[in-house]
Amino acid sequence: MKVIRYASLLLALALLATVTLNSAPQRPANNEKRIDALLARMTLAEKLGQLQQLDGEGNGTFRPEHPDLIRKGLLGSTLNVRGAKNTNQLQHVAMDESRLKIPVLFGFDVIHGYRTIFPIPLAEASSWDPASAERSTSIAAQEARDSGVRWTFAPMLDIARDPRWGRITEGAGEDPFLGAAFARARVRGFQGTDYSAPDKILACAKHWVAYGATEGGRDYNTTDMSENTLREIYFPPFKAAVDAGVGSVMSAFNDLNGVPASANPFTLTKVLRGEWKFDGFVVSDYTSVKELINHGLAADDQDAARLALNAGVDMEMVSRLFNQHGSQLLKEGKISQATIDEAVRRILRIKFRLGLFEHPYTDEAREKGSLLTASNRATARAIADRSMVLLKNERETLPLSKALHSIAVIGPLADDHRSPLGWWSGDGKPEDTVTPLTGIRAKVSPATKVSYAKGCDTQGDSTEGFAEAVALARDSDVAIVFVGESAEMVGEAASKSSLDLTGRQLDLVKAVHATGKPTIVVLINGRPLTVGWIVENTPAVLEAWMGGTEAGNAIADVLFGDVNPSGKLPVTWPRTVGQVPLYYNHMNTGRPPEANNRYTSKYLDVPWTPLFPFGYGLSYTQFKITNLQLSAKSVLPLRGNDTLAVTVDVENTGKRTGDEVVQLYIRDVTASMTRPVKELKGFKRVTLQPGEKIRLEFALKAEHLGFWNREMRFTVEPGKFKVMVGANSEDLIEATFEVQNGS
Ligand code: BGC
Repeated sequence: MKVIRYASLLLALALLATVTLNSAPQRPANNEKRIDALLARMTLAEKLGQLQQLDGEGNGTFRPEHPDLIRKGLLGSTLNVRGAKNTNQLQHVAMDESRLKIPVLFGFDVIHGYRTIFPIPLAEASSWDPASAERSTSIAAQEARDSGVRWTFAPMLDIARDPRWGRITEGAGEDPFLGAAFARARVRGFQGTDYSAPDKILACAKHWVAYGATEGGRDYNTTDMSENTLREIYFPPFKAAVDAGVGSVMSAFNDLNGVPASANPFTLTKVLRGEWKFDGFVVSDYTSVKELINHGLAADDQDAARLALNAGVDMEMVSRLFNQHGSQLLKEGKISQATIDEAVRRILRIKFRLGLFEHPYTDEAREKGSLLTASNRATARAIADRSMVLLKNERETLPLSKALHSIAVIGPLADDHRSPLGWWSGDGKPEDTVTPLTGIRAKVSPATKVSYAKGCDTQGDSTEGFAEAVALARDSDVAIVFVGESAEMVGEAASKSSLDLTGRQLDLVKAVHATGKPTIVVLINGRPLTVGWIVENTPAVLEAWMGGTEAGNAIADVLFGDVNPSGKLPVTWPRTVGQVPLYYNHMNTGRPPEANNRYTSKYLDVPWTPLFPFGYGLSYTQFKITNLQLSAKSVLPLRGNDTLAVTVDVENTGKRTGDEVVQLYIRDVTASMTRPVKELKGFKRVTLQPGEKIRLEFALKAEHLGFWNREMRFTVEPGKFKVMVGANSEDLIEATFEVQNGS
């Protein structure tokens, strides 16, 4: 794809021969010449300066030493410095006072919004609607760009099968296929087709790689896995991002099979550059170069710089070892001039593609009018609407009538402004957040009495507020209880050994439920929680996740039926933390679990099944999926674009318009290696009117049927395959086909 794009750009270049050098930042051949010219003029210190990224001071400001470093050519990039004024001020030093006038690249964690905050990525993935992710990242790019940010450390593409790991909140969940679809969409949203466009920014695929597999769910921990698992489960979202043209990649903190990811030549050079032809640059994660010493890979600072540079890290975030030791390493022959030049080249290439040399500054007047606009908020609300997952709805408890006489809104998160913003909330401000209480008040009829009691905090032992909450519930027609996690309980360095509700939150739900009033539970959280009691005992449970700036309005949209919930879980929900890791696409065992056979793969004290399976979510209407047909029962080995068509009927058998996410899974029944019991290979989100029935078609290709074999070659093996289609990973109808031998 990239080749085609470059070819057409070159053609355009030929036609526009009169245009000045400065107006076409993406012309690759020309960029390489400009890089050659710069490299020829750069001193070693200036080269090492381009490899350095330093953190700002807080609140978007730069540190006092930054201008001088930039003036001397010793600092190429910053993180967290933002705001048009701050970035312009620093950029002026680079453009007006430094010898070579190489612009600074301003990076920031724009993870799920810049000022308008969208649902956390895990929530957005629950929409199973990559187009929503493309819209949110594209708005985030525009807002960030207008504030001087040119580079985001996103999308986060780590597959996560362990909800104890707090960073599960930042990604698209447990599945490589869904993860790849969201990776593509997010890269497109941030970068567009040309990230020099005035409303686009550079994206960064992180954390390369397998950081989500951190042992025990403990952040920064060791990962150890086969190359097959790496290639089939952890690589696909990154490959999708590279194919979508992502310009940068971040090397992770974790040790991977004995070689930390920030010094791993296999992942950084062999796979990324060699196999995938990635031509952007790699930035280390925060001080991960220096941390090679703690890992026990590097003897000292100099050694850490040597290992990271030689493995393929180009830019060092925060620690300064490339700068401090680059020259000595070069003198001693421990790194080559070519390695340094190549790292500089990759960084300059992206600076040119960004159009930074031509447009280094940000329009300060524009910034004011472009953040948190009504239209950006409306999009955030629409995406939050699509991200919520209805987990239980007995006897149509939901949706509620807007004309109820009285509603008790209860819980520590019912009127909390911070939790909906989640972890990495950019420049989002709690005071801009619509809380559930505000959303509900705005939704119901003026005659409805909405009263509020916090009941308890998310942490701590106090039950002092219970009496008030219980009294309110008693006096109301219904109680809606908002429990879950506060923002600091999720994200980086937020691993947990328990997935239960913290503090006295469960007791609060029990106390309210004991009043006998219909008790609806809304969960605000960033990871799966073990909420078995609630699911068993209360009539309706809505997973609202951390829904961003417009969370409260979106929650009210769903609770009162203006929006029919349509989200599906992108991650398995365990019954107890002891089941973790629990994921749908596991291998079979020699003794698959059986109810009446002790000697099968299961626990004595808990069912082997999850609380909610991957792909699960209800609607206010009902859907029926029937009539699974394949275009052939036996096919020659599929090649390239050869397809096997899979069709099903989907019907809305209920009384409301609604969206269903129809999911397709395959299983390679017998192969030369054990294969997962199910693998997602297709999904489609469709809107159906009551009574409407449509026929959906999926196309299976070789890429969906193959796997990495014992020789580490991707191959489709002949034999029997199952195709399964349904509304979640457990509720499926199936058919089989055969891939024939031979060519
Ligand atoms: C995180 C990255 C983040 C970086 C910069 C690190 O601690 O792991 O995800 O991009 O900090 O803020």
